[in-house]
Amino acid sequence: MDDSDIQLRPVRLDDFWLFERQAVDPEAGGLFNWSGYKDPTSARRQFDQNGLLGPDAGRLVVSTGGTVIGDVAWSRVTYGLPTWWCWNIGISLLPEFRYRGLGTAAQTQLVRYLFETTPAERIEAYTDVQNKPEQRASEKVGFTRDGVLRSTQFRDGQWCDLYLYSLLRQELETGPGYGYGELRPPAGEAVSEAVSEAVSALPFRPVGRPRRCAGRARYARSAGARPAGRRAGP
Ligand SMILES: CC(C)(COP(=O)(O)OP(=O)(O)OC[C@H]1O[C@@H](n2cnc3c(N)ncnc32)[C@H](O)[C@@H]1OP(=O)(O)O)[C@@H](O)C(=O)NCCC(=O)NCCS
Repeated sequence: MDDSDIQLRPVRLDDFWLFERQAVDPEAGGLFNWSGYKDPTSARRQFDQNGLLGPDAGRLVVSTGGTVIGDVAWSRVTYGLPTWWCWNIGISLLPEFRYRGLGTAAQTQLVRYLFETTPAERIEAYTDVQNKPEQRASEKVGFTRDGVLRSTQFRDGQWCDLYLYSLLRQELETGPGYGYGELRPPAGEAVSEAVSEAVSALPFRPVGRPRRCAGRARYARSAGARPAGRRAGP
């Protein structure tokens, strides 16, 4: 599956059959997302205000060959302060288009779009601990599982656990999702190699900045890549 076969585009008036179907058909939105019938007209009211593209949240239609197959969405999440923010993304493909690589391709395009058009450093995604296809799709995009959020989603008569996944800006280029579709080569690779070699030749070990995220370094090592700006070695 080449992700160029997939297009993400703004919602149009003639797409509302999709949201109406998702609002009343549990299968259409996915059983792991089902939280009861919804007002099918609420998306239309939001659309009239901002085309479903606001500063803190957005929604795009996923299509292939002109056929609408689902949608992706994102919203701003903060951790303590308004400036400590990231995007949380979601996806829903219609049942007849699942398990063909399209969900992986659409999410790859969405994270690329968000990193290209916003200064976000982190994109995260929740998924039910039983939602194996979405876990696999997230990992193919390059997401890392951060951990379990216990009893966070009420579904099917009970509170369910979610996995929290995240993808940092650099990891789109160094993680396992790199090479999927037509992702660009890592920017500044040659420069960071040259700097790394020069630093290695110094007679002392320079004091670097504190490691921002042990997970990032661990992840990059396991992916066989070196985070930009860090020297090789133990
Ligand atoms: C989740 C979803 C977006 C994934 O998109 P998709 O196009 O179906 O997924 P892909 O084909 O890209 O990848 C699915 C992967 O999961 C694997 N998979 C499918 N069913 C599986 C199962 N029961 N157990 C383990 N892996 C499974 C597939 O084999 C594939 O991996 P592979 O390429 O290594 O073989 C899509 O199925 C969907 O919209 N589901 C309903 C809504 C939903 O659950 N959204 C996510 C909510 S957080």
